[in-house]
Amino acid sequence: MDDTFITGLPKAELHLHIEGSLEPEQMFAFARRNRVSIPFDSVEAIRSAYSFSNLQDFLDIYYAGADVLRTEQDFHDLALAYFRRVKADGVVHAEIFFDPQTHTARGIPFQVVADGLAAGLAAAEAQLGITSRLILCFLRHLEEEDAFVTLAAAEPWLDQIAAVGLDSSEVGHPPSKFSRVFAAAASSGLKRVAHAGEEGPPEYVREALDVLGVDRIDHGNRALEDPSLVARLVREAKTLTVCPLSNHKLCVVDDLAAHPIAAMLKLGLRATVNSDDPAYFGGYVADNFRAVAPLLTRADMVQLARNSFLGSFLSDVAVNAHL
Ligand code: HPA
Ligand code: ZN
Repeated sequence: MDDTFITGLPKAELHLHIEGSLEPEQMFAFARRNRVSIPFDSVEAIRSAYSFSNLQDFLDIYYAGADVLRTEQDFHDLALAYFRRVKADGVVHAEIFFDPQTHTARGIPFQVVADGLAAGLAAAEAQLGITSRLILCFLRHLEEEDAFVTLAAAEPWLDQIAAVGLDSSEVGHPPSKFSRVFAAAASSGLKRVAHAGEEGPPEYVREALDVLGVDRIDHGNRALEDPSLVARLVREAKTLTVCPLSNHKLCVVDDLAAHPIAAMLKLGLRATVNSDDPAYFGGYVADNFRAVAPLLTRADMVQLARNSFLGSFLSDVAVNAHL
């Protein structure tokens, strides 16, 4: 496939953890300016530590890496660097996850994270013309009570937050554990998404739909094990934010050549292609399109890009302008 076809296709990224865009070079730069020590002595040493056999292996290293993020400037710079990077990938809109509890647990106030990111998003729109939204993710390995504390801390910023999400260790932490806090977020006018069916069973995808009332399923790979669930996702036009390189690095799929993205499109699912944690999984959104390009036709790629706008939280008018 002609690479300019992939990068030239205007697209939205709907599954990107901003903390997962922290490149090793940036980790060093932030560690130096904040006088934080990190357990690596070179960029190569960091990169060679990025070998994972499951989600938890990755999460342990991802949360440790985030420790270098201390100031509003760090969060601003992190976000703006992501947008500068994906401009060349054809990204015109991005809906970005952040994990406030990873930072508040280290004594970094919610305000530092939210104001820094909001400034980075505003700079990206002004300088690069890329629009964006923020999605506040609750860490599912923590208690629902902690998620309520986070939602309360977010109150002054709710006009700058489009949705809540659910991430971190999936198995053993079903969506239903967060039913009340998602209901509270819904009452505050927030949209809902959740990671489900990455490592967890199809039942977790059903719970995310039935109990949390999500508009999108992040990942959703294991929904394919349940034909009646697939039929429902198709019928209800639920978006799946699929992340091929992440799936491969976290051993959710054994072989990229057998990635289910093409099968998802054939089934009529509203699948999209995204990068998840690009600094850790070896590529940004265009790299993810390249990784599955051998499985897809040009028409499939166009469909994936269309799906990214259809599944976005942009207004109908803005969506139509991108189709
Ligand atoms: N799954 C769950 N939690 C995460 C992920 C993921 O792929 N990336 C960052 N946090
Ligand atoms: Zn994710």
